[in-house]
Amino acid sequence: MNKRYCIVTYGCQMNVHESEKIAGILRSKGYEEGKTQEDADIIVFNTCCIRENAENHAYGNIGALKKLKKAKPSLLIAVGGCMTQQTGAAEKLKKKFPFVDIIFGTHNLEDLGRLIDEKAGRKKSVVEIVEGKTEIEGEDADFSFRTSYPNAWVNIMYGCNNFCSYCIVPYVRGRERSRRPEKIISEVNGLLDQGYKEITLLGQNVNSYGNDVGGAFNFPQLLRDICKRKEKFRLRFMTSNPKDFGEDLVRAIAENEQICNLVHLPVQAGSDRILRLMNRKYTAAEYLKKVEMLKKHVPDCQLTSDIMVGFPTETEEDFQQTLRLVKEAGFATAFTFVYSPRSGTKAAEMEGQISDDVKKDRIMRLVELVNAQTRELSSAYVGKTIEILCEDKDEKKGLYLGRDEYGRMGYFESCGDPIGKFVKLKIAEASGVSLRGKACGE
Ligand code: SAH
Ligand code: SF4
Ligand code: F3S
Repeated sequence: MNKRYCIVTYGCQMNVHESEKIAGILRSKGYEEGKTQEDADIIVFNTCCIRENAENHAYGNIGALKKLKKAKPSLLIAVGGCMTQQTGAAEKLKKKFPFVDIIFGTHNLEDLGRLIDEKAGRKKSVVEIVEGKTEIEGEDADFSFRTSYPNAWVNIMYGCNNFCSYCIVPYVRGRERSRRPEKIISEVNGLLDQGYKEITLLGQNVNSYGNDVGGAFNFPQLLRDICKRKEKFRLRFMTSNPKDFGEDLVRAIAENEQICNLVHLPVQAGSDRILRLMNRKYTAAEYLKKVEMLKKHVPDCQLTSDIMVGFPTETEEDFQQTLRLVKEAGFATAFTFVYSPRSGTKAAEMEGQISDDVKKDRIMRLVELVNAQTRELSSAYVGKTIEILCEDKDEKKGLYLGRDEYGRMGYFESCGDPIGKFVKLKIAEASGVSLRGKACGE
């Protein structure tokens, strides 16, 4: 019987995709997917450290494995991802959890196979963290084992140069490194040939794609080149940083049918003073001007965002400005976060840290506003016909599900096998973010 693996993933889509790469490596070493942790011969934690609670989660779950490891000493436990890449983190992990066998970082994920070999027959743990890498991770082979059909993630760049004052990502992911357009296009074409219907291009700031090679290529051009494939598919991307969200990109969205008319444009805050302290390099008015420009060129466009409350020194008036901006920009939905100090970042050292009570109160008010906007938009769907890409079946509900171009989830009944197909749904009910409809023609 083959050995089995189990991967536990925390964090953003970048990490979800990297777990597909980890799965690919493990399969090439003869492992197959296990159903539970008890069932596994190797458990890999792909961690995140964007906020303290992401780290606490991982720490808690790694700690809980001590018993399992004791009962089954042959079990391999590996920890990788953003958490391990922080200064001193590998040492801390080793001390806290001496039963962890392998610790690797964000820059050497592709070496996991070798690290497993090194661990074999050795008592001591294998720790390998690479710093300041300039080349591109695993560029020469797409070794991902994808399980997200009909959707696929494709990296276009790694790292971040922006150093927003609250953010740990530039420290744990290194400087921006753009993949060559021909590599990306050939990966996308390969996926479309295999029948994938939705491609999401990933980068911390896709708008600076190509800047690290002196602008030899750029993001709008990449989108246009990918869209030369004329069959029906959807193209998404994330994340776009507002500071260099420009008209050429908006034109590329408007020109190409395949690019979804949904832009995720994280604003973070509505107060110029806070935005300056965050080092975001735009004002609220500049942000809203870009939203206006987008709506002019792509009138049926929807906007989503990331918003943070409780940044150091944030006053009630600053927070009110965030609420006003949420209304003015008309976000369809938003990911909302409570600011979490990250050691090594500028904001963690700032005076005027906000108390947990105030943070809690503000996040509740923000979530209420965002949810009200989402509900209002959803209710406008009732009676309309939308097109969704069917992704899966919810066995509990006995319903198929998929998303429209704006990412809204639609549920429906079907007696065929609609997964991977575009389906027209007449919407009968809307509740919060999800819709219920009837497939036309069934
Ligand atoms: N590169 C993306 C963001 C990646 S992190 C961008 O610039 O838009 C995703 C989100 O996590 C950020 O947009 C921000 O809202 C949130 N975030 C980042 N650091 C945080 C921190 N220290 N505390 C709370 N939220 C944080
Ligand atoms: Fe973090 Fe800012 Fe880079 Fe986004 S752009 S990853 S928020 S530093
Ligand atoms: Fe993503 Fe978390 Fe790393 S959000 S880039 S996995 S710190």
